[in-house]
Amino acid sequence: MIDYKSFFKITYGLYILSSKNKEGKLNGHISNTVLQVTAGPPKFLVASHKDNLTSDYIIESGVFAVSVIQQDVDLKYMGPWGFQSGKEIEKFTDEVNYRIGKTGAPIVLDKTVSYLECKVLETKDVGTHLLFIGEVVEAGNLQEDKKPLTYAYYRDVIKGISPEHSPTYIEEKKVEEQQKQQLEQSHKKYQCVICGYIYDPAEGDPDGGIAPGTPFEEIPDDWQCPVCGVSKSDFNPME
Ligand SMILES: Cc1cc2nc3c(=O)[nH]c(=O)nc-3n(C[C@H](O)[C@H](O)[C@H](O)COP(=O)(O)O)c2cc1C
Repeated sequence: MIDYKSFFKITYGLYILSSKNKEGKLNGHISNTVLQVTAGPPKFLVASHKDNLTSDYIIESGVFAVSVIQQDVDLKYMGPWGFQSGKEIEKFTDEVNYRIGKTGAPIVLDKTVSYLECKVLETKDVGTHLLFIGEVVEAGNLQEDKKPLTYAYYRDVIKGISPEHSPTYIEEKKVEEQQKQQLEQSHKKYQCVICGYIYDPAEGDPDGGIAPGTPFEEIPDDWQCPVCGVSKSDFNPME
């Protein structure tokens, strides 16, 4: 089984991945998939959905920039970068504080702590997303006194979620369904096939050392039926 909630414990940062197209138009999107893959020379990997405008721009120009977002931002800040496409809106407007980097890709200066710019060396198709591996050509710090935003902080404190184009997207319905199933499972009764004794998780088996509230799955394997003494494997789930 895949417990989707376990994915939430994978740690990431949050960034604005940006680029330009052949005509010099600029675009960028929120990304949590930015990873340094080698040190000498420094290379970074980013993942961008094939339908994102930013992917088209990176393919066209062969360059990208990563601006590292600071921790104290709100959902409004994330909105245009993470939930809207440059196919519908202009993202690098006069209201955005940015500068053009060495590669020609834009570096966002609003609420960011550092940046790096890369020249693409390799592109790998992984299905819904493209992986771009780039060598760093320029990097710098923008603010020393602010912490970078993590994906966990974004989920737990800012209460943000990942939209469909994000690799970390998980249908909330899927998580709810799974939580429901796990809850049902923890209340499930099991019956001994030899004597008919029913193990009820609500009652447990205190005389056998099993506390009330213990789901059948969590009972140790050497536990025995309190009535006839057979092992745990002689129990079947009840409908
Ligand atoms: C928290 C968060 C993380 C995201 N991570 C990624 C990512 O790693 N890769 C990606 O392709 N999209 C990611 N997205 C989704 C894009 O930011 C979103 O689809 C954006 O609208 C694409 O913009 P564009 O079409 O202008 O490039 C993320 C969004 C959020 C809010």
